[in-house]
Amino acid sequence: MRVTVLVVALVFVFSIRHSAFGIDSFHWSLPRGLPVPRVPADNSISQPKIELGRRLFYDKRLSGNGSYSCASCHQQAFAFTDGLARAVGSTGAEHARSTMTLTNVAYNVTYGWADSGLRTLEAQMLVPMLNEHPIEMGLKGHEARIVARFSSDRASVAAFGAAFPREPAPVSLQNIVKSIASFERTLVSADSPFDRYLYRDDKNAMSAAALRGKDLFFSETLGCSECHASFNLSGPVTFERATRVEPLFHNTGLYNVNGRGAYPRTDRGLMDRTHNAADMGRFRAPTLRNVAVTAPYMHDGSIETLQAAIDHYARGGVTSPLKSKRIKGFPITPEQRRDLVAFLESLTDKSFLTNPAFGPVR
Ligand code: HEC
Ligand code: HEC
Repeated sequence: MRVTVLVVALVFVFSIRHSAFGIDSFHWSLPRGLPVPRVPADNSISQPKIELGRRLFYDKRLSGNGSYSCASCHQQAFAFTDGLARAVGSTGAEHARSTMTLTNVAYNVTYGWADSGLRTLEAQMLVPMLNEHPIEMGLKGHEARIVARFSSDRASVAAFGAAFPREPAPVSLQNIVKSIASFERTLVSADSPFDRYLYRDDKNAMSAAALRGKDLFFSETLGCSECHASFNLSGPVTFERATRVEPLFHNTGLYNVNGRGAYPRTDRGLMDRTHNAADMGRFRAPTLRNVAVTAPYMHDGSIETLQAAIDHYARGGVTSPLKSKRIKGFPITPEQRRDLVAFLESLTDKSFLTNPAFGPVR
């Protein structure tokens, strides 16, 4: 009882202090183990923005032909992927790449499978919205019409007004981007059996097989955690007050089509951005959280199961002069492979996949 009073009093004091300085009093309710996400100075987070962003994320009016929303490809039940090897856009155009999970997307240093330049969710979003090769949402050339779709609808105007108070024309493409980015920052996941074991001292949360698999994953022999690291089991992460880290990209030896390490023309990874030959086939190590529900795997969906992904690493990929030194292969028994799969499955956070706050507004 006394504790409750104290907490209420503290929250009260904090909200007064914040409002006195005009700072948004948004409160992150983060599970243990996760740091506070970094938020750009020009897009402070607030509940009305998150609410609006959530609506827009599921709104088909946001595509050129009215048939697609972000959620057409980023579906909650699949940890915001789509179950396809390669994405298909609003006009049926095939994407060269597989849809990425949005699990803990706020913490990424860069966005996309292989783009060193996309540093914020706001910058990333212009890609699916305006892309022409291939078309995703297909907004290019329809921007004014899209904004008109929302400014002619009273409920939308009210929601934009609440999210961007004091702005004379709150319904704008820029504010669509800002609010969806705010919603994306709330897509945090840290309630898997692995989290309960690690951060909440629940020693029964993981099976014996998953625990053996965990030791394999973090072992020097397998070396998985050299690239899938830290609380997000991913490449480098960032968060509030983190020191600046550079992104990392690796060639994991998926292809060598010309004997000199080339990847197929359709997608050559970071090299397509930098035009630097050394970047051939280099991609970002994605988070492995919820990976059991995001098949098929890799940037092009070319690996169908977790077993097959492990076999790829055990073989050490293909022979290639461009392959990362860390991809060298290792012996693994069928039992160990099952254990490693059990570990990867223990990264599934069921509450994240079903939390109504991340679903469409009903
Ligand atoms: C046609 C399917 C499709 C649609 C529609 C789509 N995306 Fe994506 N999304 C993808 C694909 C494919 C990638 C990987 C892109 C790449 O690496 O080039 C991706 C990547 C992302 C990423 C990067 C994740 C990471 O970890 O780096 C974010 C964030 C994202 N999408 C958000 C959105 C938002 C917001 C919308 C709606 C405005 C949207 N997407 C619409 C298919 C789609
Ligand atoms: C050299 C760094 C590196 C090491 C070591 C590594 N990975 Fe990866 N991992 C990556 C990169 C990069 C990708 C994306 C590759 C691509 O799409 O071309 C990836 C992708 C994956 C994927 C597919 C994820 C998805 O969403 O499609 C799985 C599963 C995976 N790794 C598991 C493992 C396991 C298990 C190990 C240890 C046996 C391991 N990785 C070791 C860098 C690495």
